[in-house]
Amino acid sequence: RQRESQSLYQLTEKAADFYRQQLRNHPSAGRAVAYLRQRGLSGEIARDFGIGLAPPGWDNLLNALADTAEKADQLEQAGLAIRRQDSDGQTKPGRRHHYDRFRDRIMFPIRDQRGRPIAFGGRVLGDEKPKYLNSPETPIFHKSRELYGLWEARQANRDLKRLIVVEGYMDVVALAQFGIRCAVATLGTACGEEHIQLAFRHVPELVFCFDGDKAGRTAARRALEAALPQMQDGRSLRFLLLPEGEDPDTLVRQVGGERFEQLLDEQARPLEDFLFDLLGEGINLQTMDGRARLSKLAGPLLDQLPDGVYRQLMFQQLAARTGLDRATLEEVIGAEKARA
Ligand code: UTP
Ligand code: MN
Ligand code: MN
Ligand code: MN
Ligand code: MN
Repeated sequence: RQRESQSLYQLTEKAADFYRQQLRNHPSAGRAVAYLRQRGLSGEIARDFGIGLAPPGWDNLLNALADTAEKADQLEQAGLAIRRQDSDGQTKPGRRHHYDRFRDRIMFPIRDQRGRPIAFGGRVLGDEKPKYLNSPETPIFHKSRELYGLWEARQANRDLKRLIVVEGYMDVVALAQFGIRCAVATLGTACGEEHIQLAFRHVPELVFCFDGDKAGRTAARRALEAALPQMQDGRSLRFLLLPEGEDPDTLVRQVGGERFEQLLDEQARPLEDFLFDLLGEGINLQTMDGRARLSKLAGPLLDQLPDGVYRQLMFQQLAARTGLDRATLEEVIGAEKARA
């Protein structure tokens, strides 16, 4: 089992090398390099993140790395090749049983905490769909437990104090391009409890900075819920809400790195503000009905907070907003729990 993983790590590393080489040498590299330039990325940043190119064609990687059927099977296990299904379910003798998963895409290697490439995200150069293709789950890659850019952020900062959590590969890389080398992204999946756990293992402060669109707002709400049980005293969580239609990549290119940092410092909203704003949407606290609704919504959420001063302060806030005392809030929470 461990042996197996060993070889998957080696293979994925070789694949990352291969994709990087193709970005330098393949006849179609010019188009890929032009794309990266047009998105504002320098060669230095591309190097730091190990960005590569999966050339067009069905078997470039297979030809480079799999000279035996066994190795092709390993590429399949690594999520890099897909088994070919002929219409009769059979594979004809003498034909390759696999084809490359990633074709004609810019390749972003995803590294684990030791810097080993374990998976990839691949972006099309044009408008084809899907825009991003990600490695599937493999024995060495579990997407709910990895953060793109974490290893790079730790390499770039001796003393990492905060992480900016964004949605996309391009957001991480664009921020790095503007000198903000502490962004991480979840990998084509919502930011869940394990992502937040991982991030808090390395820094005490997180700033969520999701896209200014409906998906981004949903992601922020989910992340908030996933984070609540982990808000021990001493940790801080903030949310920077971007203008409609912007993401960190487009925004930092408009305003520059310094201004972006300033926005982070001055405009990211602390968890408590974000939470009460979100829950308070459409609720009129002048009415008894409104105050009842807020306590029913907020009570069970705040109840997720671990014991500590922060928890006490949050309940005080809720008490102040609803005019209910602590004992009554406890009753509300109990009743809501019983209902759920
Ligand atoms: P976005 O659509 O916001 O991507 O999706 P983006 O990073 O801003 O893309 P470009 O390159 O600037 O146009 C955010 C993230 O969701 C995942 C990717 O991880 C992407 O970075 N995603 C998106 C997918 O996995 N597949 C998709 O087809 C689209
Ligand atoms: Mn670690
Ligand atoms: Mn988006
Ligand atoms: Mn985006
Ligand atoms: Mn984008």
